[in-house]
Amino acid sequence: MRAGARAHPLPGTARLWAKEVDRGLDLWTESVGALPPVYGERWSTLGERTLRQFEPARSKLAAGIVRGWERPLPAPGERWLYLGAATGTTASHVADLVGPTGSVYALERSPRPFSRLLALARRWPNLLPVLADAREPSEYADLVPEVDGIYADVAQPDQVALVTANAELYLREPGGSLLVALKTASLGRELAPGAHLARAERQFAGRVWLEPSVRLDPIHRAHYLVGGVWGGGTTERTTVTTRRGPSRARRRR
Ligand SMILES: C[S@@+](CC[C@H](N)C(=O)[O-])C[C@H]1O[C@@H](n2cnc3c(N)ncnc32)[C@H](O)[C@@H]1O
Repeated sequence: MRAGARAHPLPGTARLWAKEVDRGLDLWTESVGALPPVYGERWSTLGERTLRQFEPARSKLAAGIVRGWERPLPAPGERWLYLGAATGTTASHVADLVGPTGSVYALERSPRPFSRLLALARRWPNLLPVLADAREPSEYADLVPEVDGIYADVAQPDQVALVTANAELYLREPGGSLLVALKTASLGRELAPGAHLARAERQFAGRVWLEPSVRLDPIHRAHYLVGGVWGGGTTERTTVTTRRGPSRARRRR
């Protein structure tokens, strides 16, 4: 980052840095890992810190933040479960956000991206790959502990049920953080994206205190960032934004 540029940490997120630019926000995370870049992103230094550009076009989480998502976000020292880590583009940034005292259990079911995730984890010590199917959450109970947050980006027709099943088993209650990159195109073509969002919000109601969902178009077509705090809630607080701005069925034994 250019010396003298006015980068600042975003409120409540000590390892997420932003710089106002003409087109909006330039986001950077403070790296836990070592070069080379994970997906061609820019690296820079700011004093003692090593920062990596967090690109909205490559990550729905980054897109959500530049479109107005404020909280919850992964915070230093936390443990997160990441469902659908692929080759680690966004997972590496989540690992940066939780920092060296936190950890990210990065779940991926497809062996091809998983082999790249494994290679990445050699350079990101707090990124812990797990080869597993997120539809079978009890299958990895020996590998994944209770977590402070879940981030999901699986692009599947049953993504809400899949996330909920993992939250029931692994997410700290009350107060765990839930973030879902909702791909409405995977939910069927019979409903418009906004109607799919409303249905997903209703499905989470009673389990999650939802924050206003953020629409990611046009950066990621027909996607929304949906989430909030696990452990009771209503749909009444939810409305979609496009700019900045009950009981647990089963516990882990
Ligand atoms: C949209 S890509 C994820 C991109 C990634 N989150 C990122 O931003 O870097 C979706 C990934 O979810 C994985 N996936 C889909 N269903 C899954 C399941 N049931 N269990 C685990 N991973 C799954 C796919 O193999 C794919 O790699």
